[in-house]
Amino acid sequence: MHDHSIHRRRFIRAALAGTTALAAGPVLPALAEAAAPSTLITRAIPSTGEALPVIGLGTNAYGVQTTEEMAPLREVLRDMSRLGGTVIDTAHAYGRSEEVIGELLEGLGNRDDYFIATKTPIRGEIPDVDAAIRTCLERLRVSQLDLLQVHNLHEIDRQVPYFMAAREQGLTRHIGASVSSPAQYEGFIGAMERHPFDFIQVNYSIDDRGAAERILPMAEDLGFAVLINMPFGGRRGAASTFARVADRPLPDWAAEIDAESWAQVFLKYVVSHPAVTAAIPGTTRLRHLLDNQAAGRGRLPDAALRRDIERYWDALPS
Ligand SMILES: NC(=O)c1ccc[n+]([C@@H]2O[C@H](COP(=O)([O-])OP(=O)(O)OC[C@H]3O[C@@H](n4cnc5c(N)ncnc54)[C@H](OP(=O)(O)O)[C@@H]3O)[C@@H](O)[C@H]2O)c1
Repeated sequence: MHDHSIHRRRFIRAALAGTTALAAGPVLPALAEAAAPSTLITRAIPSTGEALPVIGLGTNAYGVQTTEEMAPLREVLRDMSRLGGTVIDTAHAYGRSEEVIGELLEGLGNRDDYFIATKTPIRGEIPDVDAAIRTCLERLRVSQLDLLQVHNLHEIDRQVPYFMAAREQGLTRHIGASVSSPAQYEGFIGAMERHPFDFIQVNYSIDDRGAAERILPMAEDLGFAVLINMPFGGRRGAASTFARVADRPLPDWAAEIDAESWAQVFLKYVVSHPAVTAAIPGTTRLRHLLDNQAAGRGRLPDAALRRDIERYWDALPS
């Protein structure tokens, strides 16, 4: 088991003593924040009690080929753990994403700072589930996964017994399943009733709040940790989510939750739902990583302010 708080404390101590080679540039102001670890918001995984920071990273755009394309992703994976973030979500289906993460973390030497979640293939018959799990480990260059997920309910009842065996054998520390569209919710609810997951993963954002109707309360009742995908509406939808607020100044209530950007408002809305363990915003850029990680600190909206944020959003022209 990795003790992330120890890693972070060690880094912050070394950084303050000037003994760690720090990245020049944009990470430095954020590092001052990181030096106040008490303000990092974490949530416990119900099945193990392990604490996770509420803002992680999605990597469905990490399936790149060249060293040049990998350079900005390297910066993200170098600085995310320095800022306190740990959860990285990837999948077999994201092209070379698992390989890219494996190669970069090996080079950076910071694998143990991270909680790595991946998923077995999304389509086609999986002839050998154990082999599919081994492929995830090999591509990521790790001996143990932190979370292994069934992707989009694919062959879920067949795969879960293999996942449970893999958890027994220590090939993964947790198991779960992911979906990302309301059309999958009915099938997902049945799967949540049948299987002993540690985690579920579902889409939830200010613009798509359907998961809060049944999925999130059910996860809370069953004691499943919850990862939130597509917190900005998804790689394709994010542009319209940000366009909807465009040049609008942040409302006065943003200061009450220490939000300094619309991205931070959107993320703080998502992670303030009581069932949510962590959100995994996708980004390929250091400046967006800094923005997003900052949402994992400071105050979160209470139930009344969450309703105000919903009303504000619903009244915006779409
Ligand atoms: N069924 C499933 O299991 C499933 C489905 C979908 C997603 N997922 C997982 O969930 C993760 C998140 O979903 P997603 O990546 O599709 O969508 P998302 O997190 O809602 O949005 C990502 C988009 O937002 C942009 N962005 C990120 N931070 C920003 C910021 N601070 N300001 C402005 N724009 C920002 C990103 O662009 P830049 O790259 O330029 O930052 C990217 O275009 C995925 O990466 C994947 O790991 C799982």
